[in-house]
Amino acid sequence: MESSPAVQQRANGTRDAFRQDVLNGLAYSAKRVPSKYLYDKRGSELFDRICQLDEYYLTRCELEIMERFAPEMGQQIGPGVMLVEYGSGSSVKTRYLLDGLPDPVAYVPLDISDEHLHQTARELAPDYQAIEVLPVCADFMQDFKLPTPERKPTHTAVYFPGSTIGNLNPTRSARLLGRICQLCGSGGGLLIGVDLKKDVRRIEAAYNDREGVTAQFTLNLLRRINRELDADFDLEAFSHRAKYNEPRGRVEIGLVSHRDQTVHIGDETFAFAEGEFIHTEYSHKYTIDEFAGLAAGAGLALHRQWTDKGENLAVLHFAVNDAH
Ligand code: AVI
Repeated sequence: MESSPAVQQRANGTRDAFRQDVLNGLAYSAKRVPSKYLYDKRGSELFDRICQLDEYYLTRCELEIMERFAPEMGQQIGPGVMLVEYGSGSSVKTRYLLDGLPDPVAYVPLDISDEHLHQTARELAPDYQAIEVLPVCADFMQDFKLPTPERKPTHTAVYFPGSTIGNLNPTRSARLLGRICQLCGSGGGLLIGVDLKKDVRRIEAAYNDREGVTAQFTLNLLRRINRELDADFDLEAFSHRAKYNEPRGRVEIGLVSHRDQTVHIGDETFAFAEGEFIHTEYSHKYTIDEFAGLAAGAGLALHRQWTDKGENLAVLHFAVNDAH
């Protein structure tokens, strides 16, 4: 099917932004590429496989929490809510939450991918006919407008599962939490999944799985750059690396160059020294107190917390602090 001009223009716009971000990122002395580019079609499929790995405890633990506590969460959020999910929520976690909510008014999945959104709406709508499903195609790091449901909601709550907030640095996280506060306004709240600090070996194993799926996920970024930006990265000449930086409370993920080498991206040339690192992702880990402190600074007060039995991950409910 041929894309409409608007779709093509957006695709080109995204391609230009990708090129610019890659060229800028590789021009730094500490080379980097923003993590959002990990998620092309293959990257998203690989991430789905990561979520099913034995070592990747995050998905399993969050599901355990949702399965046990979604009714309590629903009571905490309260009736008449417009629930806005950051990231399109065709997942089982979303269904647990929707099932636990008393008389929700609307469900707004928010995603940058139109395709994901429509799939979500198609999959959920038949099972939740009493809830208005109103997908919004937007980047939650930018300004966007909420839809107006037919029935007036009593309040707005954001659901942000998956510990995705961990991929932002604390400054950007605080900014996003502040935006959530403004979006929800008085009476609003946030339900968020946060991966907790724990034994270093457990954390590092989650990002260095035996099957090498996470390594493929990281290397796929070079494959994408080669394909979309006319580059000639030799995928055999780089390896995935993920190490937990304990003082900074984050996993630092990226690719290490095996040797001195030169790579071309279009007309540009980049030199990589043996052992040089291209940073692709951080995954921050918090204690509940640390995260509550970060959120408090943004105007959100911690009301309830739930963890899995092993206390690996927490789902936290915050209320917008009117006094802020
Ligand atoms: C999406 N995000 C929460 C994942 C994480 O655990 O930080 C991304 C990921 N990268 C490698 N493995 C998983």
